Amino acid sequence: MKTIHILNGPNLNLLGQRQPEIYGHATLEDVAQTCAALGNSLGLKVELSQTNHEGVMIDQIHAARHTAAGLIINPAAFTHTSVAILDALHTFDGPVIEVHISNVHKRESFRHHSYVSLRADGVIAGLGVEGYQAAVRRMATLLG
Ligand code: DQA
Repeated sequence: MKTIHILNGPNLNLLGQRQPEIYGHATLEDVAQTCAALGNSLGLKVELSQTNHEGVMIDQIHAARHTAAGLIINPAAFTHTSVAILDALHTFDGPVIEVHISNVHKRESFRHHSYVSLRADGVIAGLGVEGYQAAVRRMATLLG
């Protein structure tokens, strides 16, 4: 069974409590369980993590080079600021799918640009937490 990692950036530990009118009521634990079950049905082992620290996310990407066949990443606010995370993703050989719960293009202009999209093989935005499931399905296709 191939392993994929779902990496989540700052403030997503508060999913379900944080601005629910934008991000919904599901928690990150709900996302972890749903995606693990879906992945299992598709022959993928899904491991989800979250960090509020940019350097930790970079370390997680480096670790994924040896442990993951594909990466799903919601870098949260780092999406719009971090060349370092883009550079780290360039060291990863497998498919990368970028997920945003909200439709970032409908929001403030500073959310319209993503450094991570320069590396992502696919970008999902505005599907709510269902976007993670869409990404797992796509990952199953890409990893064949
Ligand atoms: C987000 C969108 C980002 O602009 C924001 O900073 C987040 C979450 C999303 O999932 O919609 O923290 O990545």
